[in-house]
Amino acid sequence: MSSTERDVRPRRTFAVISHPDAGKSTLTEALALHAQVLTEAGAVHGKAGRRGTVSDWMEMERARGISITSAALQFEYDGHVVNLVDTPGHSDFSEDTYRVLSAVDSAVMLVDAAKGLEPQTLKLFKVCTLRGIPVITVINKWDRPGLEPLELMDLIEQQIGLRPTPLTWPVGVAGDFRGVLDRQSGDFLAYTRTAGGATRAPERRMSAEEAAADPVATAEGAWEQAVEEDALLSADGADHDQDDFLAGRSTPVLFASALSNFGVARLLEELVGLAPAPGPTATVDGATREVDDDFSALVFKVQSGMDAAHRDRLAYARVCSGTFERGMVVTHARTGRPFATKYAQAVFGRERSSVDLALPGDIVGLVNASALRVGDTIHTGTPVEFPPIATFAPEHFVSASVSDTGRAKQFRRGIEQLDQEGVVQVLRSEARGDASPVLAAVGPMQFEVVQARLASEFGAVVRLEPLPYSLARAVAPDVAQELSGMPGVEVLGRSDGVLLALFSDKWRLATVQRQRPNLELAELPAGGA
Ligand code: G4P
Repeated sequence: MSSTERDVRPRRTFAVISHPDAGKSTLTEALALHAQVLTEAGAVHGKAGRRGTVSDWMEMERARGISITSAALQFEYDGHVVNLVDTPGHSDFSEDTYRVLSAVDSAVMLVDAAKGLEPQTLKLFKVCTLRGIPVITVINKWDRPGLEPLELMDLIEQQIGLRPTPLTWPVGVAGDFRGVLDRQSGDFLAYTRTAGGATRAPERRMSAEEAAADPVATAEGAWEQAVEEDALLSADGADHDQDDFLAGRSTPVLFASALSNFGVARLLEELVGLAPAPGPTATVDGATREVDDDFSALVFKVQSGMDAAHRDRLAYARVCSGTFERGMVVTHARTGRPFATKYAQAVFGRERSSVDLALPGDIVGLVNASALRVGDTIHTGTPVEFPPIATFAPEHFVSASVSDTGRAKQFRRGIEQLDQEGVVQVLRSEARGDASPVLAAVGPMQFEVVQARLASEFGAVVRLEPLPYSLARAVAPDVAQELSGMPGVEVLGRSDGVLLALFSDKWRLATVQRQRPNLELAELPAGGA
């Protein structure tokens, strides 16, 4: 398909979010298998060594079998172009996931049938609800023993406050999975096991009458029970309602076994059928940029050192309006400077396939876009700026210094680069000086990335010393002045200009608040909550 044909197709841009091990990599591979992959941006990455692993570029990722990087996979399904934007698998990188959620129109929440709602799932679900992102829930690993389906529905309703509206309902308990009842047609979709998920599972559909006479469906009363529960769900108001879904009040639920490809085609159908297409984007001044306005895009991820052979820097941007054409000159909204994409090919991951055209919802990777930072807007025509992407409240703090002072320059350059990429937050104060900035993170593994990258990319070996703080509050300059000198409190400036007051713990914070009730100590967005 030529890029011109591709450009007129409707878009769906989504991310799969889950707790580690729920099956995100398996599902991504299964989705790619069902669809015709158009471009690959390093999204199909399984655990270390698995076939299809393409984003294993970082030693750390390989060693730990986790994915730190994020990119996008584009494929075609049923006349649509689908963009799957990848999210990191480890909760220490939830800030990255949060940024990715500013680039998607919907999310697929993957839940392990045996584990229910795990901490990471809960956090991310809440972020989606806060941001008004419609969520489709997939209960995975139904081929293995797990929780009761009704119990899982209760958990979603009670712990997240979203009304689950199952589109399919399991026939047979988890671990004795016969298939699902399609709640719209009343048909039975039989589960056929395929070897290791290497091929698409053939789908066998039976009418309700046929299912009622089928020995597999009816064994141990499984079909009857599913029909009964389906009626119960309807009586309880658990039928899909498109407005509620789009408004973030309800979540359609599917039951699947990603490993054997069951439910994957159905998920694609629902994504194309129910998930929203790219719509207007809110701007910093409270207006909106319509999809057919002049070109604009939001940078949600900056990454460098992806490949030893190409030591360059990639900025991933989501097209919000208009058409991106390779070679066009765009304006960088923060600096007002023109930015030529002439040599900044749109490339994806290691494949480096170029994309000539991209439409709203698509993700473009801009090479050597050294001026671009996370949260930046680029555009043509009418100026526009999108609101900055919120940063999370850091909970871990270290002071960083270079071991060999002869490498001080490389250290400074490296810290600046990692700050711009948003790998950690970098805090500074006059008292501490430039030689030992404070690094602040949501998860401690971010520090390991900093250490590894400073050593490998900048030749700067760093010493990190943990600091006795666990809480940060944003403060105005006058408040910062009042806090300075108080025990157990330190005020530092972040590179975006925000002043952060660090407190050793919540008791210290409470004491300060009691002593100075008039001080305004603003809470930052918590780790996803
Ligand atoms: P993640 O990216 O969310 O971390 O999860 P991943 O896909 O790596 O899956 C975690 C484990 O769960 C893998 O097993 C995978 O095979 C298994 N899994 C995923 N989906 C299903 C499913 O539908 N049914 C069953 N039974 N298992 C599933 P592993 O042993 O950790 O890895 P591997 O050796 O199979 O690669």
